[in-house]
Amino acid sequence: MTAGYRIVENARLDARNTFGVAARAPMLVDVADAAALPELFGYAMLRDGPVLVLGGGSNLLFAGDAPGAVLALSSQRIELLGEVGDAVIVRADAGVGWHDFVLWTLGHGLCGLENLALIPGTVGAAPIQNIGAYGVEVRDAIRAVHAFDRRDRGFVRLDAGDCDFAYRDSLFKHDPDRYIVTAVEFVLSRTPDLRLEYAGIREELTAMGIDGTPRASQVAEAVIRIRQRKLPDPARLGNAGSFFKNPIVPMAIAEALQATHPAMPVFRGAGDDTRKLSAAWLIDQCGWKGHRHGDAGVSAEHALVLVNHGQATGLQVLDLARRIAASVQDRFGIAIEPEPRIIGATW
Ligand code: EPU
Repeated sequence: MTAGYRIVENARLDARNTFGVAARAPMLVDVADAAALPELFGYAMLRDGPVLVLGGGSNLLFAGDAPGAVLALSSQRIELLGEVGDAVIVRADAGVGWHDFVLWTLGHGLCGLENLALIPGTVGAAPIQNIGAYGVEVRDAIRAVHAFDRRDRGFVRLDAGDCDFAYRDSLFKHDPDRYIVTAVEFVLSRTPDLRLEYAGIREELTAMGIDGTPRASQVAEAVIRIRQRKLPDPARLGNAGSFFKNPIVPMAIAEALQATHPAMPVFRGAGDDTRKLSAAWLIDQCGWKGHRHGDAGVSAEHALVLVNHGQATGLQVLDLARRIAASVQDRFGIAIEPEPRIIGATW
């Protein structure tokens, strides 16, 4: 390791993406200390070429090789920055594993991230797609995002309000070549404000024998149990979680579809005049659950999760995804879009 980073040329990325598909990068840079970024971005290949920042590799699909350098931040610090009344400010480096961080907060008696337990990936990747599960999005707990700004070649601190967070979306997704997230500041609480309304959480707590008010760690345990049942473990079956976003449509479209499909789940959208549909339900109705073509397939437990049974290529997974989206379009007139970033091909 020289000066906080290590470079490997013509690197294999098979073990760096949770789909487990084969891919290579002309250069892989592991950055242990974010302070090395200004120096690294002085080199022409990083300064001028495309750079892909890799977190846990759990939200991307390599449909081809990485076109330029791949950068992975591995710094692992977690710091308590201060307390204001009940609010506790914590800063975690981009390289910290997301679930490890959630467990760290719970172990320190801090609440706010319990519903986000067991999401794959890193702290640095969490704000990019504004990870969310069981009625909570990470933006609810983010105070600020620290990043290296490639355009201005300096470090910045962006207040949460300036990050344009929305459902599975943020400023960092719109401008993927500009910021490299180096750390995230969270506002957590010592007093639980539990969110138990998402379908399945209360039932799981009851099944665990918890009838009164649960502790935050018990809510996390319920979430872990549900996720382990529904979502395949990427260590055993390659996948990237939900492959499609839930489509957000005008309320009139949702109502018209519900009139002909009364069983179709409909959720509140961002505004009063939009509704969120369940991509899993739409895909399930088209008969894809458990489908397999070669080694590319759809999970038998959850219609939204595409899987690699072993030797599928990224292009084969992408081809299956396109066929799924086309069938949903044909049958329901709804366009569904991938959630993971696709490298080496356009959707
Ligand atoms: N459903 C089906 N068939 C299925 C699975 C689900 O019809 O195979 C229907 C059910 O009616 C169910 C509804 O879809 O009530 C919603 O399913 P689920 O609660 O599993 O949630 P989801 O909308 O499919 C979202 C997130 C997940 C997150 C869960 C839990 C997106 C794209 N996905 O899935 O996030 O864990 O809610 O909050 O928003 C991820 O982003 O990678 C991810 C796994």
